[in-house]
Amino acid sequence: MTERLQIYKCEICGNIVEVLHAGQGETFCCDQGMGFIEPETKEQGKEKHVPVIEKTDKGIKVKVGSVPHPMEESHYIEWVAVQTDRGICRKFLNPKEKPEVEFQIREKILETREYCNIHGLWASK
Ligand SMILES: [Fe+2]
Repeated sequence: MTERLQIYKCEICGNIVEVLHAGQGETFCCDQGMGFIEPETKEQGKEKHVPVIEKTDKGIKVKVGSVPHPMEESHYIEWVAVQTDRGICRKFLNPKEKPEVEFQIREKILETREYCNIHGLWASK
């Protein structure tokens, strides 16, 4: 059974999916069940991953993290997403870009997530 906005990853091919509508079944890829990814919320290791939110004139800026995360070809933040009480906004990043994004949103923020291609899923509330 899944829940809306849960994220699953295939350990064989690397596919990552997000649930838009919860169901009773299991998510499969490459002939096996996909692994549920529980976001990390506490820093560990030398790179910082937990998203930091700053208010701006037009909405918010999300930085990854308290010290800017590397944005190298082999290690970078793939995307940043903000969940509000109305839905979810996501921006994808590329290596060499700054590890931060701006969203023009005014809704109540429930959770902010980011995905590092090496260290996985991180969240802050
Ligand atoms: Fe990382």
